[in-house]
Amino acid sequence: MVMKMKPKVFITRQIPENGIKMIEQYYEVEVWRDEKEPPREVLLEKVRDADALVTLLSDKIDREILDNAPRLRIIAQYAVGYDNIDIEEATKRGIYVTNTPDVLTEATADFAWTLLLATARHLVDADKFVRSGEWKVAWHPLMYLGYDVYGKTIGIIGFGRIGQAIARRAKGFNMRILYYSRTRKPEKERELGAEFKPLDELLRESDFVVLAVPLTNETYHMINEERLKLMKPTAILVNIARGKVVDTKALVKALKEGWIAGAGLDVFEEEPYHNEELFKLKNVTLAPHIGSATYGARYAMAELVARNLIAFAKGEVPPTLVNREVLNVRGPGFSR
Ligand code: NAP
Ligand code: GLV
Ligand code: GLV
Repeated sequence: MVMKMKPKVFITRQIPENGIKMIEQYYEVEVWRDEKEPPREVLLEKVRDADALVTLLSDKIDREILDNAPRLRIIAQYAVGYDNIDIEEATKRGIYVTNTPDVLTEATADFAWTLLLATARHLVDADKFVRSGEWKVAWHPLMYLGYDVYGKTIGIIGFGRIGQAIARRAKGFNMRILYYSRTRKPEKERELGAEFKPLDELLRESDFVVLAVPLTNETYHMINEERLKLMKPTAILVNIARGKVVDTKALVKALKEGWIAGAGLDVFEEEPYHNEELFKLKNVTLAPHIGSATYGARYAMAELVARNLIAFAKGEVPPTLVNREVLNVRGPGFSR
């Protein structure tokens, strides 16, 4: 009997061990153990003999990488967003791309709410105030006044898995729920009591605007100077989508000049992010892209990455395939 060689997978960062253990049953695994992403030259070299890749959103998988990857058949992204991968080029080459939807939805929606509440009530600044010893007056009627959340209006842009999960939480805060999305969702409108609004109307009417769209050519700088000017001066913008959905220059201007009241940001145009002008502002809450960072979500993402790779190795369609058109180019599995 001929022993079949296991296909090779290069995993661009340490992911939770549960996933790696599963993958090892079907693949010869190499993990890049540095905390930082592999440098471009390294990635270019590693893909040369890789049959599969596990990528993160900080790995840019473009045409040049794909041109260097003659054996590559599947890219399993450890994230739901996949704007770092050139899907069209992958599909053309018959490369399957998978992501990790659903398992991180609730954790990310919780975090959108963490940012929303923290920004509305100045939590981070108040924490610094207490620690610094500046707190001298026990209680004052006008100290640290924030914005009401309960009963106010939330506007959700991008009404997919995470957007809807954010809306479900808003029901508990007795909020009026507005949404804008590419496609109207009458069933969800009934279920969640949400109203569809054109983007500009949503921006005018909302006390809290939450971004939950993917980054695409259409959503790039969707929130620009003109749109920020439509928002209420008391409104708060929360971005858990992708940094490039917002024009940061315009946002800093809006925050400095008081066109809006504050912002809670988990994502930035460049990551890691550094912007002294933004960092000086007190009306922002900033986080280093940790929306899905819970034990539960991150372990479940590792398992889903593994399930995608294993299904493919068995010649089955991976459970969370992104580019279904690839099925017309090449069937799943390494023997094809
Ligand atoms: P999803 O279910 O695909 O939802 C995205 C929604 O946005 C869909 O409803 C979609 O279209 C809508 N949309 C797409 N393009 C649009 C456009 N041009 N204008 C208006 N709406 C548009 O994805 P998800 O699982 O909720 O994730 C959403 C995004 O969140 C991801 O792509 C990722 O970038 C980001 N994310 C961030 C974190 C974090 O750590 N901060 C964690 C997870 C995800 P339809 O209206 O046609 O349905
Ligand atoms: C995180 O940002 C993701 O897209 O999963
Ligand atoms: C505040 O602590 C109050 O009792 O109103």
